[in-house]
Amino acid sequence: DVIDVRKLVSQGVFTYDPGFMSTASTESSITYIDGDAGVLLHRGYPIDQLADNSDYLETCYLLLNGELPDDAAKAAFIEEVTRHTMVDAQIAQLLNGFQRNSHPMAVLISLTGALAALYHDGLDIDDAEHRKLAAIRLIAKMPTLAAMTYKNSIGQPAMSPLNTLSYSENFLHMMFGVPAEAPNVSPVLAKAMDVIFLLHADHEQNASTSTVRLAGSTGANPYACIASGIAALWGPAHGGANEAVLNMLNEIGDESRIEEFIAKAKDKDDPFRLMGFGHRVYKNFDPRSKVMRKICDEVLADLGVENDPLFKIARRLEKIALEDEYFIERKLYPNVDFYSGIILKAIGIPTSMFTVIFALGRTPGWIAHWNEMISSAYKIGRPRQLYKGAAKRDYPV
Ligand code: ACO
Repeated sequence: DVIDVRKLVSQGVFTYDPGFMSTASTESSITYIDGDAGVLLHRGYPIDQLADNSDYLETCYLLLNGELPDDAAKAAFIEEVTRHTMVDAQIAQLLNGFQRNSHPMAVLISLTGALAALYHDGLDIDDAEHRKLAAIRLIAKMPTLAAMTYKNSIGQPAMSPLNTLSYSENFLHMMFGVPAEAPNVSPVLAKAMDVIFLLHADHEQNASTSTVRLAGSTGANPYACIASGIAALWGPAHGGANEAVLNMLNEIGDESRIEEFIAKAKDKDDPFRLMGFGHRVYKNFDPRSKVMRKICDEVLADLGVENDPLFKIARRLEKIALEDEYFIERKLYPNVDFYSGIILKAIGIPTSMFTVIFALGRTPGWIAHWNEMISSAYKIGRPRQLYKGAAKRDYPV
């Protein structure tokens, strides 16, 4: 009575691939990853070259348009983004409905979802200009929304964007600035923030990007699709890992306890893992981690906090793990979350905001994938299942 889908699987009519371990859900021209070789390319350009020579907004342009902009196109893009940094006053009102200690990710999902209410009527996703405007608005407004969630959580009014500042300076100004005082953002920290955003800008079909594509494949409003991506990013198995790194370093608490935690991580009867080590795709040093490590050194030196006990624990832990046979054999290298957590902590960003920073950085990747899908022939995403429930039976009468 029940179609045995397992039979279809064995006949090759169906594939059963939990976790999409070996199923491509789409073709894409945006990002290439070779995890064994430790390679990450955006539109063909290696991530380390982009981190050294480009900046976040230029990389956003590259992801969206496929090519690097010339000087005029770059200036026009920056100008457009800068013109859209303000958010509607009604969006700010929504903050009043949240408890002060609401998780910033919950607030960011809601505020981004609310953009869909503002920008819905008259939106034609088949029109390339409308799609471009949605991309510009999202990239421009995300720092404003992110900083609003933080200010709200500490009971302070939101700071307006200051459009004379660069993208990253403006974000740090809205996070930590004081109204009516001249902005006072360290160039080293602004550069570090910019590189953090750039390193998070895209990572092909990860869980949140796949969520955005799946939601978008129904023709849904793009702002709502991005809100669904933020929801998918929130989990500790995805964007939440940098928060877990800081929690682990706090738990270790003292350099004398590092060996104890390394032993716990190696003990197969203990579920504990070293947070910030290992990656599903990279079985080599994640190319983003190498850049992040350098930035981490610069930020700690700039702030003069290299000797802060927490950062000393991180450095010692990294050294021990990199020389330990267990980690070497399993190709477990520090991942991007290990260093980003440390940098963000040093900048003074609270751990509850770490995943919000990730969401901000990933926004161009999400919207570039959505745009790539909508601008070519696509099908509604509709996975199938292996049914394991009861066979057909009659309702008892
Ligand atoms: N600490 C200790 N041992 C580890 C760790 C770790 N962090 N990561 C993997 N291992 C071990 C496993 O126990 C396993 O050992 P075994 O072969 O003796 O059984 C082996 O390494 C392979 O592990 P898998 O779980 O099969 O590797 P997978 O690729 O599925 O997992 C993951 C990758 C989830 C990232 C894992 O390394 C992990 O849990 N890391 C800690 C959490 C973390 O930092 N997540 C952030 C990921 S990066 C990102 O999201 C941007």
